[in-house]
Amino acid sequence: MHRAWVQVDTKKLENNYKNLVKYLPDFCDCICIVKCNGYGHDAIQEALVLQNCGAKFFGVAALQEAVSLRKAGIVGDILILGHTVKEEMALLAEYNLIQTVGDIDYGYALLEHAKVHNHVYRIHYKIDTGMHRLGITDHVSIFALRDLANEEHLTLEGCFSHFAVADSFAHEDINFTYQQKALFDAWVKEAKAVGMDVGKLHLSASAAIVNYPDIVYDYCRPGILLLGFDSGDMKYPYVREQVLSLYAQVVKIDVLPSGQSLGYGRTFVSDCDKKIATVSIGYGDGIPRNYKDGEVLIRGVRCPIVGRISMDQMCVDVSHLDTVELFDVVTILNEEITIMEMASKANTISNEIVTKLTNRLIRIYK
Ligand SMILES: Cc1ncc(COP(=O)(O)O)c(C=O)c1O
Repeated sequence: MHRAWVQVDTKKLENNYKNLVKYLPDFCDCICIVKCNGYGHDAIQEALVLQNCGAKFFGVAALQEAVSLRKAGIVGDILILGHTVKEEMALLAEYNLIQTVGDIDYGYALLEHAKVHNHVYRIHYKIDTGMHRLGITDHVSIFALRDLANEEHLTLEGCFSHFAVADSFAHEDINFTYQQKALFDAWVKEAKAVGMDVGKLHLSASAAIVNYPDIVYDYCRPGILLLGFDSGDMKYPYVREQVLSLYAQVVKIDVLPSGQSLGYGRTFVSDCDKKIATVSIGYGDGIPRNYKDGEVLIRGVRCPIVGRISMDQMCVDVSHLDTVELFDVVTILNEEITIMEMASKANTISNEIVTKLTNRLIRIYK
């Protein structure tokens, strides 16, 4: 046993992927998004499981993430969704990676680098259709983009955009999503009309994949869908399960006498004698310090977290348990206490909970 660990259920991960593939039309493939260390699940192990199930295309945010996947034996395509700095552009060729171009000047910088080093860089254009975060805006000349794409030192293999509110069923959000799709389609049409070979197209991440089955292109980009949790409102037409569990241990059991306080800030004062278990996990492992009314499972029973969560430990009221022993396993997250529950109680989204699980936690795939 470990002090605290993340466990990923490989079977559930495989099923989430296979059920998604079954649900998608045959012509639509997945770019499996495993950025930010696979949303805290361990990108390499996640990608290797998915590769074994047939996944051939992966997406990450940063060059270093892409390189580590290659070094670990990922042989399929890898798209970098963020930008790669000039000093590291040569690695795009060395590791056969695909770079997103979300700004024409960035495209020129990439081209110049490719020419100087006699490389050919594989690229996807990212088109801004309403996120206004990254992406080529409609002010940019379609002819300039076509000419850049035609340069022999660049290969345009795809074009994509990203939805802002596909995880909401509010009337105006549905309208906005279809407006983004319409802008994307219009841009693609214009690009084709001026003779640009746009390559493969992709638009939907998890929420759009399940909420807008009518919006389908050559690829989709699932991240959380593979991991089986939600962020925002999502309609599921097929089974998917949370693959992650999080565990720690009871490292001390003691009685807190009535009237005594517990932990930093003395925020909890017992109103009667309480049995308290100290648990070997804290905010230094990624438990949100503001996990309000948070609970854990010990011997299958929910127990409330009491007092402030500290960096390496937290305390749990176990007065209602018939038995609790030193080194009992404490379940912080599983299919009962879900990532969504923790996110909601900590006033954040599931993505933030999992990406903040720190490296101190051992990751176990089984
Ligand atoms: C461009 C892009 N595509 C796909 C994804 C995957 O999103 P999700 O995990 O909601 O499927 C992300 C995640 O933020 C993203 O930024």
